[in-house]
Amino acid sequence: MKYIFGNWKMYLNLKDSVDLAEKLGQQEFDFNKINLGVFSTALAFAEVQKKLPEDIKIGAQNVSWTPQGAYTGAISAWLFEEAGAKYALVGHSERRYIFGETNDIIRKKVEGCLEVGLVPVLCVGETAEDKAENKREYRLKKQLMKVFEDLDLVGKKIMIAYEPVWAISKGGQGEACLPADADDVMGWIKSELKQYTDQGISVLYGGSVDAGNVVSYVSLDTCDGVLVGSASTKEEEFINLIKEVEKSLS
Ligand code: PGA
Repeated sequence: MKYIFGNWKMYLNLKDSVDLAEKLGQQEFDFNKINLGVFSTALAFAEVQKKLPEDIKIGAQNVSWTPQGAYTGAISAWLFEEAGAKYALVGHSERRYIFGETNDIIRKKVEGCLEVGLVPVLCVGETAEDKAENKREYRLKKQLMKVFEDLDLVGKKIMIAYEPVWAISKGGQGEACLPADADDVMGWIKSELKQYTDQGISVLYGGSVDAGNVVSYVSLDTCDGVLVGSASTKEEEFINLIKEVEKSLS
């Protein structure tokens, strides 16, 4: 069983989101092989959900941690859960580096999700500078430690997405992270997590995944699935990508 999560970011407007959801809903995917989820803009949430079969889950791209109150512009994990979300991306690099989210904020968001039963998908990854300065492990260690230290996970589920920031596309293709490289890091993350929990935590890979390279990642034992950005917003590409994964698992 592999996860395929489509992070639609702010690529699609309401109509395009609903159209894509409808096309996905018309496909016959094999849900014994894949866990499929899409992360649409919050504004399209209700309409997207109406087009999706129950087996395709919906998730929040970002949440705020306080459930309700005087927080202008915020949408809480609680509100997303009420709206039908199962998952929430937390700490995506675009939130960290464009919107200035710190590890402390990310920790609160993870706790906010866990409290209301949303599964946080904690995104971690080193920047190009970190990599150039040989600080990959340092960065990942810190991102994991700040969230997992003394985190109560009893009866709760959390997931990780390893997304090297330098490999994430900005519309076009990012720099490719070689599967062997991703394999090493995901294996390292899994062993690092053992000091915090004995729960088996799923680790996804993300960064310029497309229909052509997805199997090279999901075929890795360390890789429980993929978080796909740009390629998940293009109907044919995304459907092909899902089918490639299904084929590889037969
Ligand atoms: P990408 O984005 O697939 O467009 O590189 C991945 C992500 O940021 O989640």
